[in-house]
Amino acid sequence: MTLEKLQPAGSVASDGMSAKAELTGQTVVVIGASSGIGLETARRARAEGANVILTGRNPERLQRAASELGALSTAAFDATDPAPLERFFRDLPTTIDHVMVTAGRPYYGRIVDMDFAQARRALDDHLLLVLQVARNAADKVRPGGTLLFMGGTGGRRPGVGLGIASTITAALPALTANLALELAPVRVNLIAAGFVDTPLSASLLGDQLENRRNQLRATLPIRRVVGPADVAALAVHIMTNTALTGATYDIDGGQQFVAA
Ligand SMILES: NC(=O)c1ccc[n+]([C@@H]2O[C@H](COP(=O)([O-])OP(=O)(O)OC[C@H]3O[C@@H](n4cnc5c(N)ncnc54)[C@H](OP(=O)(O)O)[C@@H]3O)[C@@H](O)[C@H]2O)c1
Repeated sequence: MTLEKLQPAGSVASDGMSAKAELTGQTVVVIGASSGIGLETARRARAEGANVILTGRNPERLQRAASELGALSTAAFDATDPAPLERFFRDLPTTIDHVMVTAGRPYYGRIVDMDFAQARRALDDHLLLVLQVARNAADKVRPGGTLLFMGGTGGRRPGVGLGIASTITAALPALTANLALELAPVRVNLIAAGFVDTPLSASLLGDQLENRRNQLRATLPIRRVVGPADVAALAVHIMTNTALTGATYDIDGGQQFVAA
């Protein structure tokens, strides 16, 4: 694990900040911040005046994100590995305001074909990661701050190859609600996304990406593709709206209601 000090928050260009900066003086930790939803959330939080602490596995990608955003610090480690995760939170020099977890990727595969090591790993990577973050972050986040996790809406409909994804999809809202009670007054919430146009989606779809975008534009009730900035805006809202805890927020452009 590397922990590098970068620029202080004050160095952000003031013209990069929104007119009504809602996170001024707050510190936001993003676990999985070098790409996609995490990177966009860090960017948005920064534009709202926050200091950001960024993590991810690949140090070069992380460094690129940190330089662009003027991050307070970075730490490169695998969030599913309990020891460095615990060390990361233990070594945080100050109380933090919010933690957003975007590490991970969906698991697809027929459950009947899966060996148990694979199944255990997939469940660990998703459910135990939430528990590990909750346990380690609990006394580092100030009262009223948030823990924010990522789930999905796609797994609500059963499908061949979606067994693990569906199980995790069903479990995360329950885990979130229970953690919200146990960790109060720290707030705990879940964002459930449908297709989001990120590097992860691009890597999963390969040369089918443009077809998928076109299909979504044609079928989604919102008639456009959901992007990481949409999710980032929701994430920052959840951080700043202190009435929100224990809840799951769907952001899928209505995808779960149509055969998309
Ligand atoms: N995109 C979608 O359509 C969609 C829909 C619903 C839910 N989600 C979920 O939302 C989250 C973010 O998705 P995304 O599309 O933004 O993915 P992404 O573009 O691949 O970004 C994931 C970020 O997390 C980091 N990361 C991945 N695994 C990690 C690990 N084990 N430890 C530490 N950092 C890790 C990645 O950097 P490194 O690889 O360098 O570690 C990267 O910075 C994922 O959990 C995904 O399953 C995505």
